[in-house]
Amino acid sequence: MPGKRYSLPNLPYKYNALEPTISEKIMTLHHDKHHLAYVNGANAALDKLEKARQTGFAGIDVRGISRDLAFNASGHTMHSLFWPNMKQGGGGTPGGRIADQINKDFGKFDSFKEQFGNTAKQVEGSGWGILAYEPASDQLITLQAEKHMDLAVQGMTPLLAVDVWEHAYYLDYVNDRAKYVDAWWNVVNWDDVAARFDKVRK
Ligand SMILES: [Fe+2]
Repeated sequence: MPGKRYSLPNLPYKYNALEPTISEKIMTLHHDKHHLAYVNGANAALDKLEKARQTGFAGIDVRGISRDLAFNASGHTMHSLFWPNMKQGGGGTPGGRIADQINKDFGKFDSFKEQFGNTAKQVEGSGWGILAYEPASDQLITLQAEKHMDLAVQGMTPLLAVDVWEHAYYLDYVNDRAKYVDAWWNVVNWDDVAARFDKVRK
């Protein structure tokens, strides 16, 4: 059975809805060409991985495919966030719980706005300014993303991870990372992975 694929969402408003701030021409190109390219690129990477699962991974450039998947799937995720983050007649200040959280974590709305604005303006090259909720510290943070990711897929929830920094294996395996990764399967706690999956799918 083929795996799932990404699809291009419709804009939640007309192409000219954000004028004069963003022109109809930009919105049309940005959504119909650029966002679509990310969807197609992510699906092409998934196709390559699916094919490799059938024919074997020998000689397959998993590093390159993983990079393509991260870049394009994150491009898709970020644009899917960006479109509904805007609306005709938007602006002003937030209400509700997010307003309280912004005041708590940034002091006041204007301080947040200045921090977020500087974060976005100072992205080196292509990228994003992001306001994110960081669950480990239970607070809002501002971040930059260069390109769309750093080989992560934005919005994903990690379920199972293997640390392949040398500090994780060098004393036992020296430079043989492959041997460490092969052996690592013997200590995986699948009950924990299953519980994390159940939690995120709830
Ligand atoms: Fe874009």
